[in-house]
Amino acid sequence: MTKFSVNDRPVEYRMDPETPLLWALRDASNLTGTKYGCGTGDCGACTVDIDGEAIRSCLVTIAECEGRLVTTIEGLSRDRSHPVQQAWVAEQVPQCGFCQSGMIMAAAVLLRGNSSPSDAEIDAAITNICRCGTYPRIRAAVRRAGRVLRGEERIAAAPPPGIRPEDAARAVPAMRAPPGS
Ligand code: FES
Ligand code: FES
Repeated sequence: MTKFSVNDRPVEYRMDPETPLLWALRDASNLTGTKYGCGTGDCGACTVDIDGEAIRSCLVTIAECEGRLVTTIEGLSRDRSHPVQQAWVAEQVPQCGFCQSGMIMAAAVLLRGNSSPSDAEIDAAITNICRCGTYPRIRAAVRRAGRVLRGEERIAAAPPPGIRPEDAARAVPAMRAPPGS
């Protein structure tokens, strides 16, 4: 039995203690925002926050998480209000989106310790791979989230989960309404 906290809730996995955290999150907890890319610690798609560190969950066993605090993309905020999420929407960062939850988790951890990172610091801290090449927009969004965290800028709230695309476009000017709406 392995007990720890996931998104501020106690969990107890009745699984092989050597199970990678990524599988427990996705298969047992249905937290599928954390993605499986490579399984070898290289791509960063599976990044979660463990006790304030950005960790690749494919490389950590649930036994190693005993007693620790795990936060996934679903737990970053309940309503997409985290400054990194707001900046991600405002800068329209994602393309296919597959890498993005890992990117966002790595960015959130970076900004917690340094709200004004240089591009070199962003590149050093976020070594995740994006096959769509969104790196310039990721840097812009991290810098923008930093300005929000420092109180220098406000971003209109991102639309809540489940909102219709045309309503989202009305709520957040940076988003485009789908054709014909
Ligand atoms: S799936 Fe974990 S680093 Fe790629
Ligand atoms: S947005 Fe497609 S892999 Fe990054």
